[in-house]
Amino acid sequence: MAAIRVLVADDVWETYQVIQKILSLEDDIKLVGRASAGDEAVSLAERLLPDVVIMDVNLPGLGGFQAAVLIAQRCPRTAIIFTALQADQQLLREALRAGGRDFLVKPFSGEALVESIRRVYEAEQSRFSSRLLTEGTLEGLARREMVAVFSVKGGVGRTTLAVNLAVMLARRTGRQVVLVDLDLQRGDASVFLNLIPRKTWYELAQELEQNYSPVWEHYLTPHPSGVRVLAAPVRPELAEVVKGPQVERTLQAFKEQYEYVIIDLPAIFSDITLSALDLSTQILLVTSPELPTIKNTKICLDILDSLHNKGKTKMVVNRFSHDFSIKIEDLETNLSFLAACRVPAEGRLVVSSVNEGIPFVLSSPGSRVTAAVAELAEMVIGDTGRQTDLEEQRKKNLFKFWARGR
Ligand SMILES: Nc1ncnc2c1ncn2[C@@H]1O[C@H](COP(=O)(O)OP(=O)(O)OP(=O)(O)O)[C@@H](O)[C@H]1O
Ligand SMILES: [Mg+2]
Repeated sequence: MAAIRVLVADDVWETYQVIQKILSLEDDIKLVGRASAGDEAVSLAERLLPDVVIMDVNLPGLGGFQAAVLIAQRCPRTAIIFTALQADQQLLREALRAGGRDFLVKPFSGEALVESIRRVYEAEQSRFSSRLLTEGTLEGLARREMVAVFSVKGGVGRTTLAVNLAVMLARRTGRQVVLVDLDLQRGDASVFLNLIPRKTWYELAQELEQNYSPVWEHYLTPHPSGVRVLAAPVRPELAEVVKGPQVERTLQAFKEQYEYVIIDLPAIFSDITLSALDLSTQILLVTSPELPTIKNTKICLDILDSLHNKGKTKMVVNRFSHDFSIKIEDLETNLSFLAACRVPAEGRLVVSSVNEGIPFVLSSPGSRVTAAVAELAEMVIGDTGRQTDLEEQRKKNLFKFWARGR
């Protein structure tokens, strides 16, 4: 079982040291960070996505209560335990209002702290599963989305977008998000997330030879954001073991079981790609403002059209910049297709996020690329942004542009 990940927000160094000592004795609890001010607690929680925050009510800067409210909004699966030097009715009421799950009066014993962390974590887990059970019946089923991230030109940013979109969806919705790396020979989604996969498509394909309904969960590697990853085999030659019907069976099962399934596809049309495109409810076709990519995107759109998949396709222009000679309008006219989303070129930030293995939506929440991915996530959640009539859409875009400029 994965350890309970705890963040401590306390400006008194000695208190932090005591907590650190207590938690170091517990195998099932892991201390992942410390904040000494309210705003730092919020930004660290956003980045580390802990299961539990031990929060002093009197933090400098944003107080503990205000920080807790922001954390609840931004990290819906993180539970807060408040601590204070004394407790009165007023303080307890405020703690409850700020979403606190428990309240410990200092000095507390090691046992009380550990018991509180375990209890709060378990309660949060079961609250979450029961929400899934109730919402997963009618309303929840309607919200299931399987999103294929595709292009026929390599290196355009499919993995970057698939990984960051998955993490953004997990954070925004607090729902089950699975990222499927279907780039079986060269897939690197787990590297982008700094994960060492427990099992991959290779082990799953072998199991599927014997068993039509394996325990799917066993083949997923969890990321602290809540996203679970079905990773590509660790070596390219192992990809041969994975056959089309097995991929189709797996995707069908995932579509029934999980709420958001994001598929990172290879840049080729193969039987595996075709069945993933068919099963998906949305296709994000990634392109960039460069002539060879645009040429390939045009061919790709024609093929998607002949496969009757163009209707669920949204075009995402990645690495967009106003400095480029190719303007979005030219690109759209050339392809007779409108861009649903533009993701700016932010070389240094994106590359260092890949090298650190921390998706930029976590490491740089205020960046322009994160804002673009947030917009993409909203589109996926609401299934909006599909192209309807080109002229109609163009008028809407013009209006948006005009309204923004005012
Ligand atoms: N918006 C962006 N701004 C700047 N650099 C980007 C952006 N998006 C992606 N990149 C960079 O482009 C490179 C290719 O990205 P990525 O690996 O996501 O593409 P891909 O389509 O999955 O490639 P492949 O065909 O190899 O699977 C990476 O170095 C990444 O950091
Ligand atoms: Mg890739």
